Amino acid sequence: NVDLKGRNFLKLLDFTQEEILYLIDLAADLKKKKKDGVLTQDMHRGKNVALIFEKTSTRTRCSFEVAAHDLGMGTTYLDPSGSQIGKKESIADTARVLGRMYDGIEYRGYGQDIVEELAKYAGVPVWNGLTNEFHPTQMLADVLTICEKLGRIKGVKLTYMGDARYNMGNSLMVVCAKLGMHFTACTTKKYFPDAELVKTCEALAKESSGSITLTEDVEAGTKGADVIYTDVWVSMGEPDAVWTERIRELTPYQVNKGVMENAGSQAIFMHCLPAFHDLKTKIGKEMGEKFGITEMEVTDEVFESGQSVVFDEAENRMHTIKAVMAATL
Ligand code: CP
Ligand code: NVA
Repeated sequence: NVDLKGRNFLKLLDFTQEEILYLIDLAADLKKKKKDGVLTQDMHRGKNVALIFEKTSTRTRCSFEVAAHDLGMGTTYLDPSGSQIGKKESIADTARVLGRMYDGIEYRGYGQDIVEELAKYAGVPVWNGLTNEFHPTQMLADVLTICEKLGRIKGVKLTYMGDARYNMGNSLMVVCAKLGMHFTACTTKKYFPDAELVKTCEALAKESSGSITLTEDVEAGTKGADVIYTDVWVSMGEPDAVWTERIRELTPYQVNKGVMENAGSQAIFMHCLPAFHDLKTKIGKEMGEKFGITEMEVTDEVFESGQSVVFDEAENRMHTIKAVMAATL
C-alpha cells in the first residue's frame, strides 16, 4: 500500500519508515532481477531524465545513468560547467525548463535549499544526488548493504567517526532514527551534528526504538558497534584552508585496527567513498607530503580487510537509485 509515484526524493526526513523499507525491498528485488538477467526496460521505456551535477561524482552519476538505461530511459548529463544553471539562469527557471522536457531530474550540488527550490518549480520528481546537508540515495545503499551483511536493520548499532555535521553524518543519523537503529557520532564536540537536527532525530528514535548518542570517547563510542562508518575529513566544496585543522582534530577518530578490534569481529566497515585509505591519488599525495601522513580517515589495512564492505556498498548505489526512479516515476 506504499505509493511513491510523483514524489520527490530530497531527504529521508520526508519519508516514513514504511516508505524507506519499501524502497529497500524494491531495490533488493531489482538487484535480483539484474543478477538473474531479467530485463526491466519496460518499466519506464521512452522516458528521459536530466542529471545535474554541480559537484563531481563517480558512483552517483554512473548509478543514475546505468539505472536509467536499465529502466528503459534516456539520460542527459549536465556537468559542473556545461549549463547555465546558477550562473546565467536561476534554479526556478532551470526547473521550469527541464520540467517541460524531462520526466525526472537528479541534482547534486551545494545547499539543500537549491534542490528544494528545484523541486518546487520542476513539476516532475526531483532526486537529491548529494547536497552539503544530506545524501539520501547513499542511505538506501547503506541500509541495503547492512541488511545483506548483517541480516537485520532494527537494533543495529552504527558508529560514525569524523565530521558528523555534514551530509553523511546528518543522513546516517536520520536513517538510523527512522529505522530503529542505534546511531553514535564519535568525534570531537566541534564536529557533532547540528543540535536542532539531533533533537528531531531523538524524537524519531523514540518512536522507532532507536537511539542517538554523541561522544568524544573512541573506546566507548565504538565498543560493540555492528557498523563502523567514516567519510572524508574534508568534503567537496569546502575551502582548502580547513585541511590543517581537520587532520589535527580528526586523526584521533581515524578508523584503524584498534577501532575495529574494539568494535568486535562482528563489525563491518563502511565508507561512502571516495576514501583516503592510502595517499596514492593526486590530492592524497599532495596532502601526504604537506602533512607528513600516509593515511587519513581509514587505514589501508582496515579498508582492504575482510570486514570492509565498501564495494558492495558502492554497487548498491545503482540498485537503490534504480528503485528510487522506478518508484517515483
Ligand atoms: N558516494 C558517492 O556519492 O560517490 P560519488 O561522489 O562518486 O558519486
Ligand atoms: N562528504 C562527502 C561525501 C562524498 C560522497 C562530500 O560531500 O564530499
